[in-house]
Amino acid sequence: MKCKRCGELAAVKLPSHHAGFCPGCFELFFRKQVETAVRRHAMIAPGEKVLVAVSGGKDSLALMRVLSDLGHDVTGLHVHLGIPDSSDPVCARTEAYCRENGFALHVLRTGDVGLAIPKVKAAVHRPICAVCGKIKRHYFNRFAYENGFAALATGHNLDDEVARLFANVLRWDATYLGSQGPTLPSEGRFVRKIKPLYRLTEFETAAYCFLKGIDHWKAACPYSGGASFTGHKKLFADLEHASPGQKIAFYEAFLAKGREHFAETNREGRQQLTPCASCGYPSSGELCGVCRIRALVAK
Ligand code: AMP
Ligand code: FES
Ligand code: ZN
Repeated sequence: MKCKRCGELAAVKLPSHHAGFCPGCFELFFRKQVETAVRRHAMIAPGEKVLVAVSGGKDSLALMRVLSDLGHDVTGLHVHLGIPDSSDPVCARTEAYCRENGFALHVLRTGDVGLAIPKVKAAVHRPICAVCGKIKRHYFNRFAYENGFAALATGHNLDDEVARLFANVLRWDATYLGSQGPTLPSEGRFVRKIKPLYRLTEFETAAYCFLKGIDHWKAACPYSGGASFTGHKKLFADLEHASPGQKIAFYEAFLAKGREHFAETNREGRQQLTPCASCGYPSSGELCGVCRIRALVAK
């Protein structure tokens, strides 16, 4: 197969785009997809500071690289979860990557704020991944807000977004459907959340890392035992195989025709949030979810 752009031998075949690309043209394609996402969904205004949540996995390392190459002012934040045999090497890999590429990186240790994940796991009687995700999201936002970042970027890709959308559709969960999308605008103490890789698949970010020599962390979290929504992802992989282009079409059509309907419903029946009595961040009760978890762990 020949590269669609330059006619050289193609290295990456992309059936959903009816194209194959050589390494150089694939990188241009990858950047273009991110540029389109940023422009269409008003993710970053010129000169704005962006905080990138870097886990050490392929998506967030690729995201840091591509946003920087597009000229954006990026700083990384890695959340060290305190998980034995996992968090130290993941953090070391993330630090090495940022040092070698000249990216500023902050490391926040949840153990320093009374929330080392093994202790949280022992104290709460809910699936640890959901609780851990809540803690991470709280500190991503808090760090961004307190340090003057205009936006918080995460490495969610098209497969993540489509699987989440499908799960929300299966439950017709209006609240989640109304707030799902590549950009969530800022509001009060919530900074803008952006997902600049939403037009790129897991395969495409993996290919980008491979071709750019980005050495990412590959092992799954020892507590989660693997990626989330694996069943839904497999379903969409089959659909995509049978009919290339289905994934992006399903997601873009939701953004164009479905999301606003749910967002409108949300605006009408929205619960008022008040500042958490302990940390001051928006909460539906006296204490926010994260401060409640901290209290449980401290008991
Ligand atoms: P996940 O939910 O693990 O697939 O992660 C989704 C995104 O959240 C990643 O692409 C990162 O941007 C961010 N992320 C997850 N875990 C961490 C972490 N420990 N530190 C910083 N960012 C993270
Ligand atoms: Fe949070 Fe595994 S429990 S990353
Ligand atoms: Zn709180």
